[in-house]
Amino acid sequence: MSDIIFSGIQPSGELHLGNWLGAVQNWVRLQDRPGKHIYCIVDLHALTQDFDPAEMKRRTLEMATDLLACGIDPARSPLFVQSHVAEHTELAWVLNTVTPFGDLGRMTQFKDKSARQADNINTGLFTYPVLQAADILLYRASQVPVGADQVQHLERSRDIARKFNARYGDLFPEPKPLLTQTPKIVGLDGEAKMSKSVGNTITLGESEEVVRKKLSVAVTDPARKRRTDPGNPDICNIHSLHTIFSSAERVAEVRAGCTGATIGCLQCKSWLADGVVAALRPIQERRRELEARPDEVQDALRDGARAAQAIARETMTMVRERLGLWRG
Ligand code: TRP
Repeated sequence: MSDIIFSGIQPSGELHLGNWLGAVQNWVRLQDRPGKHIYCIVDLHALTQDFDPAEMKRRTLEMATDLLACGIDPARSPLFVQSHVAEHTELAWVLNTVTPFGDLGRMTQFKDKSARQADNINTGLFTYPVLQAADILLYRASQVPVGADQVQHLERSRDIARKFNARYGDLFPEPKPLLTQTPKIVGLDGEAKMSKSVGNTITLGESEEVVRKKLSVAVTDPARKRRTDPGNPDICNIHSLHTIFSSAERVAEVRAGCTGATIGCLQCKSWLADGVVAALRPIQERRRELEARPDEVQDALRDGARAAQAIARETMTMVRERLGLWRG
């Protein structure tokens, strides 16, 4: 059987450079590989963190629009919303019953998120990895393109698949993460991973003016206080972004100019902005086209849910048989 690739992303609203480079670009590229590719906007996972119900629909549709604008092709890769396929929660329940309690308490994301929202440590936050395992196993996916922060979640998914298989007979492949070559994308603060919750992002829809403004105040090598101080590109986040967005010649020019203190950080950042703006332009154009035709986005999600559900139903039929659940 050819590979089934599955991945999910939370409807956080607009995509930013970190999501794009860390995962979504990989999703887009993988579409050219043979096999089946299924992509999901995981709105049920988003319920585990504080959120505003009035915003949910907009966030979901915006994420879908961004994913299509980035090049997810719904004709080749079903794109759908998790809550539209109820089998995700059904399988999650079954998988809860093979998941050791202690394993979930050790998850670093559970601990981090619990610390961040101490007044909302809900059970969904605890069983989040089980729902994620259900997302993947429902499609019997073997490859999961994700950012490096998801490696531990994928380990749980594999354990859960193994536990189910051992108890009820082989059904699920053990899914493996497919990581991008792109290193972790650090935010404009030069410290934390680029993330909406930290507020250190450049979103894909950002205007040229805002890209330039945000980059102009981004943190660089702290030892380079004055223009005449030589800088160290190897510890500078702006330089690592150059390696992604600028030509090899420009990267060499920046390195020489920074270490030799012949160019200032502002010059360096303005060159980076040129590269970022150029990379975002085609995505923004496609986004504007989609915004003018919202039906196209909604149709894609509806078709995607239908295609996904056909597979999900097959899996759940097998799961129920294995479990000996009686159907009259
Ligand atoms: N936990 C993932 C994240 O925060 C999102 C996710 C949910 C996911 N279900 C998934 C990713 C299934 C891959 C496969 O990025």
